Amino acid sequence: MKVVRSVAEVRQEVKQLRQQHMQTKGDATVGLVPTMGFLHEGHASLMRRAKQTNDIVVISIFVNPIQFGPNEDFERYPRDEQRDLELAEREGVDIVFMPTVADMYPSPTKTHVTVAELTDTLCGASRPGHFDGVSTVVTKLFNIVKPDAAFFGAKDAQQVAVIRQMVQDLNMDIEIVACPIVREADGLALSSRNVYLSAEERKQALVLSRSLELVKQQMIEQPAWTAGDVRDMLRREIATSPIAEIEYAEIMTFPQLETLEDQALLADVSSEIIVALAVKFGRTRLIDNMILEPALSRQTAVTV
Ligand code: PAJ
Repeated sequence: MKVVRSVAEVRQEVKQLRQQHMQTKGDATVGLVPTMGFLHEGHASLMRRAKQTNDIVVISIFVNPIQFGPNEDFERYPRDEQRDLELAEREGVDIVFMPTVADMYPSPTKTHVTVAELTDTLCGASRPGHFDGVSTVVTKLFNIVKPDAAFFGAKDAQQVAVIRQMVQDLNMDIEIVACPIVREADGLALSSRNVYLSAEERKQALVLSRSLELVKQQMIEQPAWTAGDVRDMLRREIATSPIAEIEYAEIMTFPQLETLEDQALLADVSSEIIVALAVKFGRTRLIDNMILEPALSRQTAVTV
């Protein structure tokens, strides 16, 4: 596994691996997994998926300053380079690209990629500028690595919707693969930010997956349910945790992210539906979601 720290080096390494592959086995495909490090089983699942369908797997580890707001956790975002490299090595990654901020942004960037509308809601509403930062850095990573496919987790479902729209709008010739949410045995979605939680907050945070499960159950059993019923149930269930502070508890169409009116009958919605949560436990903000088929009878991974 090669570990490279500059844009120039990673371009060179990818080119070289492509050429080597060409000489022995023909055209190579490159799969890219963009991450901010502090890797866990969720990230590992993306690497495995990338490896299944690509000859060369590149991961990037870069805590991207421009996707953090001024009062967010950029400075204290968890980092553990040694452990990340061990995990990547175990997963058979070919190249780890770990650029410095100065290398990615030699001067403040004057060009930003903005995906309109999809970024007005959910995390986009509460984190202004966040998705511009994401789509800009992902565009840079795509231009640097030139992958054939890139892998993202459904844990950040809005991010998947935004990146897919960007790739379509800007004719980027890259397949976007979305992978299912990986959870702890007790239901908590894996996240690099889970280390911020105290033991008590960690326990309370189970209300996220629990409320999603409850909604799923009710949706199956009560075909006459409306979007308002879902919102009520989410709020009621999350309120059972004395420390949970809801930022949003929403139900929308996916991937268009259009609001469903409270009185909208779910059985009438013809697209996929996302139930999405952002909740604070102490200082830590966690997100979770589930995506349901129109029939509401089966939970699915993001496949669109
Ligand atoms: P990061 O939070 O490190 O996540 C990297 C990728 O791992 C994302 O696609 C995310 O959805 C996926 N992921 C995280 N937790 C997961 C889980 N429990 N199950 C499945 N996949 C999971 O997302 C980012 O970094 C950044 O915004 C980035 C795309 C790298 C741009 O800076």
